[in-house]
Amino acid sequence: TTDKIVVAIDGPAGSGKSSVSKAAARRLGFSYQDTGAAYRALAWYVAERGIDTADEAAVVEALRDFDYAIGIDPDNYFVRVGGIDVEEAIREPRISAIVSSVARILPVRAYLVELFRHVIETSDTPGIITEGRDITTVVCPDAPVRILLTASEEARMARRSAEISGQSAADVAKNLLSRDAQDSRVVDFMNAADGVTVIDSTDLDFDQTIQAVVDLIDAQAGESAS
Ligand code: CDP
Ligand code: CDP
Repeated sequence: TTDKIVVAIDGPAGSGKSSVSKAAARRLGFSYQDTGAAYRALAWYVAERGIDTADEAAVVEALRDFDYAIGIDPDNYFVRVGGIDVEEAIREPRISAIVSSVARILPVRAYLVELFRHVIETSDTPGIITEGRDITTVVCPDAPVRILLTASEEARMARRSAEISGQSAADVAKNLLSRDAQDSRVVDFMNAADGVTVIDSTDLDFDQTIQAVVDLIDAQAGESAS
């Protein structure tokens, strides 16, 4: 069939979801959708407008003129709000610190879930990899390929520390753990749902992890097409 191959990937912070999904998509000629970027962009936007994330009604209200755009071509990735490039700004510690409090607001999730599905439906490549926390369970529970990408806490902290400068390893670890704990109250991304394949990247290097994901997509997408 010519049906588009939908790939869903979830996992905790630092497991390698974004970098691995982007590289696998590039290798397969697929699109790549980073859903965490949408939650981060909304957190950036409400902060910009001086809205306290504890004021849930005000955050939901802000969705009305949240003008969000993301690039799903792995070779042309961008994140914009109101035409402003926020790709770097949304990774700042001040945004990481508030993003969970935006993501726990259920009308926000409902709104973004619809947006993610629309992006998947309107993508025009042979397949699309979408990664986040609730893609295998909520956004695309029927996707032919569903993966939970994990790694030991130690490995995840080490990977993140290596990326972030200007923050001590202890601070990076503390922030990551508290974000995972907050996020876990809203969606379970630590345990694989029925039918979801776990790829544990603790002992895999970056290329081996990409290969494991690509192999699984080749195997499972082929299976569901026949
Ligand atoms: O890359 P990292 O693991 O740091 O996080 P991210 O994927 O950029 O996601 C940022 C935040 O968005 C998470 O901590 C969650 O609060 C939220 N998120 C979510 O609730 N559901 C998703 N599908 C993706 C992200
Ligand atoms: O999106 P998520 O928070 O799950 O992770 P990421 O930002 O894609 O990955 C965090 C870092 O881990 C990146 O710098 C990757 O290159 C690195 N990584 C690694 O060193 N070994 C792996 N097997 C997978 C990712």
